[in-house]
Amino acid sequence: MPNLMVDLAGLKLRNPTMLAAGVMGISSSLMRRVAKAGAAAVVTKSIGVEPRLGYSNPTVVAVRCGLINAMGLSNPGIRAFTNEIMLLKQFKVPVVASIFAGNSERFSQLAQYVEKAGANAIELNVSCPNVEGVSQICQDTSLLFKVVEAVKSVTSVPIITKLSPNVTDIVHVAKAAEEAGSDAVTAINTVRAMAIEIETGRPILANKIGGLSGPAIKPIAVRCVYEISRALKIPVIGCGGVTCWQDAIELLLAGAKAVQIGTAIKYKELGIFNEIVSGIKKYLEDRGYRKVDDIVGLSHQY
Ligand code: FUM
Repeated sequence: MPNLMVDLAGLKLRNPTMLAAGVMGISSSLMRRVAKAGAAAVVTKSIGVEPRLGYSNPTVVAVRCGLINAMGLSNPGIRAFTNEIMLLKQFKVPVVASIFAGNSERFSQLAQYVEKAGANAIELNVSCPNVEGVSQICQDTSLLFKVVEAVKSVTSVPIITKLSPNVTDIVHVAKAAEEAGSDAVTAINTVRAMAIEIETGRPILANKIGGLSGPAIKPIAVRCVYEISRALKIPVIGCGGVTCWQDAIELLLAGAKAVQIGTAIKYKELGIFNEIVSGIKKYLEDRGYRKVDDIVGLSHQY
């Protein structure tokens, strides 16, 4: 029987699946449901210092191969959200608080809040493609370095930096995060995209441009995970278009230590977690592997 447990920068995961930020991570009760369904860790919706309404509708559009969203980082603000994290304190699976801000001071403030509330790790959203001031952080490695370094200096839980594919060289950005003290990176956030209604010629999203998630971006995620994991020492979490266990295996082979699942919940509901965990287990069993780590980055040998 293969061991599915994964040590992710000190976080003990019972299997390699995690809930991705932005999907069902807005309340403790929803996150409990996700954990019950099999996820080994949950990432909250991205939280900022102040409440934010986000953009007006339409904020999401379904396209043939995924979803394009421009929510505009809507969230209730850290004071209101702290309670949701506190309610998960005795939770069986690690809670990763996703936070966003426009500068290192605010990121540090948020990080202290969520750690105090009981978050087991922090994911830095420096890569939301839809909000000015946030998307710029991962485009500017010196700014990114400052943010990660500042958060690291005020927290003791693992820091995970969520990277954007909307850059020329994601490895360069990932290295800056690692050098600044990030304990892991998540690759990738959504890919900048757009949909237009052909009768009127009108962009469908209120924000016009959004971020594409779902099956269309999985090969981009695989490429990014592959390149980053070859260049970095810290663990990489694969995220982007995972819709079945084969997708999860592909990301593990590319070098991910764990995979995040988000958009696929729309297609397969919460059963997706058990489906993927069972598929990974069978894949390892059939090939005589004893643990998940045995296949992490296996594709690098070729
Ligand atoms: O628009 C949004 O709230 C998207 C956030 C993200 O992709 O990080």
